[in-house]
Amino acid sequence: MTPVRATTDLAGLLRTRRSPRRMLDGAPDDAELERLLALAMNVPDHGRLRPWRMLVLRGTARDDLGAALAEASGDPRQAAKALRAPLLVAVVLRPSQHPKVPEWEQLATAVAVTTAFGLLLHDQGWGSVWRTGPHLEAAPVRAALRLADGERLLGFLYTGRPAPDEGGPRPQYDAAPHLSVLAPAAARPLPVGGTDR
Ligand SMILES: Cc1cc2nc3c(=O)[nH]c(=O)nc-3n(C[C@H](O)[C@H](O)[C@H](O)COP(=O)(O)O)c2cc1C
Repeated sequence: MTPVRATTDLAGLLRTRRSPRRMLDGAPDDAELERLLALAMNVPDHGRLRPWRMLVLRGTARDDLGAALAEASGDPRQAAKALRAPLLVAVVLRPSQHPKVPEWEQLATAVAVTTAFGLLLHDQGWGSVWRTGPHLEAAPVRAALRLADGERLLGFLYTGRPAPDEGGPRPQYDAAPHLSVLAPAAARPLPVGGTDR
């Protein structure tokens, strides 16, 4: 089979993606989010369980989250945290019991979708920052997002138009310490007087 060549410069996307600290007004609309998410869903997904959902918060819906963050932390200043971008996409894991797909694999798929989604947003010129913070599990936050029992909040993609001064060049990373080659067991020297069996 002839491999299908990618049409997008994935290496360039990975090299230039940054998490902008500052965002300006303007954000993808729901139709664009749906189109990008349909692409992000192409990541590996054991059993095709689709064990996740995304929840869009715009405008005053962010105030509801802000109020919940303030209540959870006991600090009214936390309310402003939800306003750091015009659009927040809450990432929700909805794991199910499956004989062959443990929960960690379902989490892996949700993380992969979120990562791909962030790259696709970047591909369209939008900035996004994956943020969690200490209050994801707090009851007021769960209530504000109307999470069902068993659902788990994995954080928010803070999304918007990146400020022009954001996105400087990345350092050149060194992958060598993270990459090694396993020598075949047969190539290992046998202990003196040892046998193969
Ligand atoms: C699951 C997850 C949760 C994160 N939570 C936070 C957070 O709460 N606050 C924060 O400043 N960065 C958080 N980050 C890191 C940022 O998303 C970002 O990757 C980091 O600031 C590095 O910037 P860069 O993406 O441009 O390399 C989180 C990343 C991941 C993957």
